[in-house]
Amino acid sequence: MKDNFDEAVLELQESILEEAKKIYSEKAIQYFLHPRNFGRMNDPDASAIVKGSCGDTMEIYLVIKDDKISSISFYTDGCGSTLACGSSVTELAKEKNIKDILKISPSDVIEDLGGLPDEALHCSILAVITLLKSVADYFLKT
Ligand code: FES
Repeated sequence: MKDNFDEAVLELQESILEEAKKIYSEKAIQYFLHPRNFGRMNDPDASAIVKGSCGDTMEIYLVIKDDKISSISFYTDGCGSTLACGSSVTELAKEKNIKDILKISPSDVIEDLGGLPDEALHCSILAVITLLKSVADYFLKT
């Protein structure tokens, strides 16, 4: 019984992955399956939480040393494309000067991920807005 159930789950996972490969790049799928910089931080220098229009939430945490991002992480309760966008935006922001973060746009995230389907474009906007809000939190505190 368990073997049949496990096989059915594996088949379902395979078919979901095959469908995802038709619309997402290999990088987006890797970020979805193995998110980068994922997790909450206990004592960040700055942070932000934003709820998107779809109801998904994105959180970003920053540690800043000498005006540079020395550590960054994100957390989301959203779907695969939200995980991919959170991974991408945190990778793009990593080790950058805090002022250069302000230049990161949803287009950068979409380009980094090799494109996104129309229905997932808002995920890149949510990721960037959350990043910018965390930077604003830093400037308001310092
Ligand atoms: Fe809502 Fe991705 S589906 S942010």
